[in-house]
Amino acid sequence: MNIKQAITSRRSVKHYDPTHTMTDDEINELMEHAILSPTAFNIQHWRFVQVQDKDKRQQIEDASWGQKQVTESSLLLILCADLNAWEKQPERYCRNAPQEVQDFLLPAIEDYYTNHHQAQRDECMRSTSIAAMNIMLMAKGMGYDSCPMDGFDFDKVAKIINLPHDHIINMMITIGKKKIEARSRAGQLALSDVFLTDSF
Ligand SMILES: Cc1cc2nc3c(=O)[nH]c(=O)nc-3n(C[C@H](O)[C@H](O)[C@H](O)COP(=O)(O)O)c2cc1C
Repeated sequence: MNIKQAITSRRSVKHYDPTHTMTDDEINELMEHAILSPTAFNIQHWRFVQVQDKDKRQQIEDASWGQKQVTESSLLLILCADLNAWEKQPERYCRNAPQEVQDFLLPAIEDYYTNHHQAQRDECMRSTSIAAMNIMLMAKGMGYDSCPMDGFDFDKVAKIINLPHDHIINMMITIGKKKIEARSRAGQLALSDVFLTDSF
């Protein structure tokens, strides 16, 4: 499947075959591609939690107002991010770069994020959202369907996965073998409504 086909055929699927299992190799292949998505300063803020435990899955379904896709999907991913990733051994993020790049980047990271809590959070959301799209398109290319989700109680899910105090949850993604087709698109805006040139 080429990129255009993956983009046009990806839909949010809400009903999966609950008997299907994704192999560890498939999950690894998916996630190895997730972590190729771009992040500001290459900080790679994302932390992905796959929920395999059946009891936890049920608890998360309950915290998602009973959305069955949470337990019926083959893979449930919770896309989290570390708000303080920018200050945790930042030399990791450019260790293979030339020395002059490292000399520029490390002070730049410190300057950009220190005491800038909004920027720290925004960057986490940007990084995980871009990774989410990589995951959904990669899943499509691997013969799977997916659904991004924010219809859940974030505090409850944070508790269930023992989210560290300096991490946040952006969204969840369910992935599996489609049992029921997505409905036809609900109402796309015209390109001319959302695509502008030079100014609003
Ligand atoms: C951030 C986000 C949160 C969403 N949350 C849910 C959700 O909780 N449950 C659900 O069934 N669909 C959810 N969706 C899917 C949207 O309903 C869907 O993307 C939208 O209707 C467009 O349909 P399409 O993805 O098939 O093109 C979410 C989508 C996004 C991007």
